[in-house]
Amino acid sequence: MKISPYIESLIEKACKLNKTIVLPEGEDVRVLQAAHEAAERHLAKLIILGCPEEINAYFDKQGWAMDGIETLDPARSPKLQDYAKLLYELRKEKGMTEEEAAKTVLIPNYFGTLMIKAGDADGMVSGANHSTADTVRPALQIIKSSRKDRIVSALFIMAAQNGRIYYLSDCAININPTAKELVDIALSTAESAMQFGDKPQIAMLSYSTYGSGKGEGADKVREATALAKEALKAPEYAAMDIKLDGELQADAALDVAVGQKKAPSSEVAGNANVLIFPNIEAGNIGYKLLQRLGGAEMYGPLLQGLNAPINDLSRGCFAEDIVGVIAITVLQTQKKGC
Ligand SMILES: CC(C)(COP(=O)(O)OP(=O)(O)OC[C@H]1O[C@@H](n2cnc3c(N)ncnc32)[C@H](O)[C@@H]1OP(=O)(O)O)[C@@H](O)C(=O)NCCC(=O)NCCS
Repeated sequence: MKISPYIESLIEKACKLNKTIVLPEGEDVRVLQAAHEAAERHLAKLIILGCPEEINAYFDKQGWAMDGIETLDPARSPKLQDYAKLLYELRKEKGMTEEEAAKTVLIPNYFGTLMIKAGDADGMVSGANHSTADTVRPALQIIKSSRKDRIVSALFIMAAQNGRIYYLSDCAININPTAKELVDIALSTAESAMQFGDKPQIAMLSYSTYGSGKGEGADKVREATALAKEALKAPEYAAMDIKLDGELQADAALDVAVGQKKAPSSEVAGNANVLIFPNIEAGNIGYKLLQRLGGAEMYGPLLQGLNAPINDLSRGCFAEDIVGVIAITVLQTQKKGC
């Protein structure tokens, strides 16, 4: 399996942490290939949900050992009743009945998420075979936002062809964030960049730079920029040297010459490494264009702002992408930078 230099560098750090990651999609060959690669590299202990007999048969056929890999059929798990009870307790106020909890716990994404809630796993990677909504919903309902005042959002880490690492949000969860929600997304993404060792230079992206274009979209980003600059004055951010500016077009954010022309007073223009999109349409289309036409490596959607790391995959992902997201998930279990 060909692993990129960026992911190799993350694997090296992740190996030292001895974490347990649950992979709920044992029916998918790409997940099994990724689990094998991750286990061979001692990246994490893996728990694959699915039919153990079928998974073992696949590994046998490939001649692969199962060291570091556990297989588990939720329906036959000795903890099934405990997890159903836990789910019922967590969701009864939202109207879930015991019968519904007993059925829902059997859905692999719910089972895996409950394993994390119960402390039986540290993180989860799913989505090779499920929509983003089906992967993310259990996380939002059970693991919950780590801050009551901030929404959970979806990040892509991009290893670009120019050798730089960029952080792009929100490309997958919040459909049309308000100005306040864009601030949440920007702050969470800045924290993610720092967690992965980068100093955030945040561009609040728009089709307009410093008022060059008119319309509600640009107004929203301008308002979000003002709110975010205010939020960054809080003592918790004082020592972090986070730079943020907007509204900026993508060329002004990324190209020094264009940045100097369109936003000469900006500390961010030309040097942005954190790109905040105005809505999910711009974010989702943007990341796919960068990946398909720009040749960038993209990892995500990675959830940020949750109490424990649960990450999604694109259904078009390759086994090596899953290995990359497992490494990222292990590193996200650390509260501080890695
Ligand atoms: C993420 C998503 C699935 C959540 O929507 P939903 O399933 O309808 O969920 P609800 O609105 O009923 O919310 C479910 C729970 O999640 C919480 N929630 C929803 N969005 C949240 C967010 N951004 N941050 C924190 N919590 C959130 C709700 O508060 C609710 O909690 P509760 O049930 O404990 O009160 C929805 O926003 C979505 O479909 N987004 C687009 C996904 C997509 O298609 N992406 C493109 C492909 S990558």
